[in-house]
Formats: sequence, structure tokens, C-alpha cells
Amino acid sequence: MKALVLAGGAGSRLRPITHTSAKQLVPVANKPVLFYGLEAIRDAGIREVGIVVGDTAAEIQRAVGDGEAFGLEITYLRQDAPRGLAHAVLIAREFLGDDDFVMYLGDNFIVGGISELVDHFREERAAGGGPRAQIMLTRVSDPRSFGVAELDGTGRVVGLEEKPDHPKSDLALVGVYLFSPAVHEGVARLKPSWRNELEITDAIQWLIDQGHRVDSTVISGYWKDTGNVTDMLEVNRLVLESVEPSVEGEVDGASELIGRVVVEAGARVVGSRVVGPVIVGAGTLVRDSYVGPFTSIDRDCAIVDSEIEYSIVLRGASIDGVGRIEVSLIGREAQVTPAPRVPKAHRLVLGDHSAVQISK
Ligand code: TTP
Repeated sequence: MKALVLAGGAGSRLRPITHTSAKQLVPVANKPVLFYGLEAIRDAGIREVGIVVGDTAAEIQRAVGDGEAFGLEITYLRQDAPRGLAHAVLIAREFLGDDDFVMYLGDNFIVGGISELVDHFREERAAGGGPRAQIMLTRVSDPRSFGVAELDGTGRVVGLEEKPDHPKSDLALVGVYLFSPAVHEGVARLKPSWRNELEITDAIQWLIDQGHRVDSTVISGYWKDTGNVTDMLEVNRLVLESVEPSVEGEVDGASELIGRVVVEAGARVVGSRVVGPVIVGAGTLVRDSYVGPFTSIDRDCAIVDSEIEYSIVLRGASIDGVGRIEVSLIGREAQVTPAPRVPKAHRLVLGDHSAVQISK
């Protein structure tokens, strides 16, 4: 069995972060979201992984390398443009050969991994016949923004719809799919959808229409697509909740750490109060500040004379003298500073698609 990890895409919902970097590399508890997926694949006993990459290919390759650090053998597959999830399968045809494979969306986060799902598919397939595909589903309150599955009484999938106006169930597709090579014929026959993408739901529907068995598992664990800021912060909260506290950096006597707090080697906490769960990355300075729960501060940042809570701060950012920040995603090397006095006019240097709130 192989794995196909999708790490291309446009990332439009995470702009402006995705103007300059890959959304799959945004850190959750200071580790890129993509790494959690790669570890889940490794833990499921898979070694050969194809990573589909787009415009951010170089950055993904720099971060993941040849996969040795993960115990994986990685092949990079270049997609010329984000032409859909099924297009990613199309361009991976040669890499996948005639093996069964798991397709994993590189910005998805699944608590509890995928080992059980992969084992189940392996066993069913080894028993002969078996399903040609297996999808993972989760119950959602508003299925209209998801791919939605309709099941028969035994858990077989009888139909799929992409973002339906009138959903036939509340079962949404999670970003992990298991396929036999039978899917390639369906993928090769696809025509672009109304949004001009080759849809994986259409490929699965093709399998069903051919009379092939497509199974489903409803997951009870937690799943999130980290494609937007709200979900990214929520996943960060969840991961931080189980982080093991450890202090390898320096914390001075005037500082107080409460709860689950990680201070990485080379980080300094001076005259500050840190209420976990919080992670302070290597080389970061927290001085005369309050860092509140569910905050991840990446490497080489400076948080000075400020308060921050329920936020992710990326590498090299600085926040200095600005009062309180919460529910925020601060990009790499971003600088947040106060105006010297109540300004007659605000001076801003904002990237495309930035979002700021300024008091009147
Ligand atoms: P999506 O989040 O569905 O799409 P997107 O990345 O284009 O984001 P947005 O909707 O905000 O513009 O993609 C899921 C995952 O699959 C994500 O890791 C990107 C990846 N992907 C590809 O690699 N190739 C593609 O053609 C598409 C559509 C997505």
C-alpha cells in the first residue's frame, strides 16, 4: 500500500499567509500540520509516499526532504495548477502503479491517526474481492459545505454529492480516502465540474455506478480541515491540550508558568506570566508580557510588553507594546507595534488579503 498526500492547492481561505507560504506548513503546536499527517501514515505501516505539490513545491521539499526523518520514502509529484483532488490522482498514476493507496489531504487533521482504517481496508482487500474504495465520514451540523455521502443500511455508499443544497444525510467526507487501482479508470474518464476541478467525489460515484463496492467508516474521533483561520486555531487548541509540559529554555524568577507550558531550548521568559497550554519556540523572547491559554509561539519571535491568547504566532514575528491580542494568526516576520500616540492617521503595511481591526 502507498500513500498520496495532497500538499498543493490554492489555499485561498488562508490568505494572506498562503501568499508567501504553504498552508500545510502552518504550525500546530509549533509543528507543521502536514507532519502530523505524515506521521499518521508512517504509523499505519506505509512507507512509500507521493506528495503532490504546486506553487509551494520548494518550501514543502525543504521542510520534508526525502522523508528519512519520518521513516518514509518520499516522491514529489508536481501538479501544474490546483485542478482538483482527482487531478492529483491522475498525475500520480505512474507513482501509484497497481497498488492500493490511501489519499490524505495535507491540511487535514485527524486525532487518533488512520491505522485502524488502513488495517481494515488491507484485511478486507486481502480476503479477496473486498471494497474498491473506502471513505471516512463524520457527522456535521451543516453538511452543505462538504462532500456528503448517502449510505444503505450496511454502511455501503450508494451516492455522493459535492456541497449539496439539499443534503441527503449529515455525513460529510473527511480528507482521507482508501482506493484500489480501480479508481484510475474512473479518474481518467472525469470531466471538470462546474468549479472547473476534477472531483474525487465524481470518481467515487463512478465506482458506485459501475457496481463496485464502496465502504465507509464513520469516525468518532476529531477531524478538522485546517483550511481557514478559525479551524487552524481550534486544532492548535486541541493539540496544545495534550502537550507535555517541559522547560528547556530560561525562565527568570520574576516569571510565573501555570499549567501545561513548553519553553523550548534557547527561549527566554522574563518578567512574564504564561498560563498554559502554551508553547514558546526556541530562540523566542517573552518579556514583561502575559501569554494566555492555547497559544503557540514559533521560533525566534519576540513578545514584549504585550498580552496574547488563543493565537498562533509564526517564526520571527514580533509583538511589542500593543496591549491584548487574541484569536489571531500572525505571519512570519510580521511586526505588530503601537502607534506612538493616538494617531491622526494609521500607517499600515499590509499584505494582500490581510485582515486588521483598528479602533476608531
Ligand atoms: P482544499 O482545501 O480543498 O483546496 P485549496 O488548497 O485550493 O484551498 P482553498 O479552498 O482555501 O482555496 O484542498 C485540500 C488539500 O488538497 C490541500 O492540502 C491542498 C490539496 N490540493 C492539491 O494538492 N491539489 C489540488 O488540485 C487541490 C484542489 C487541493
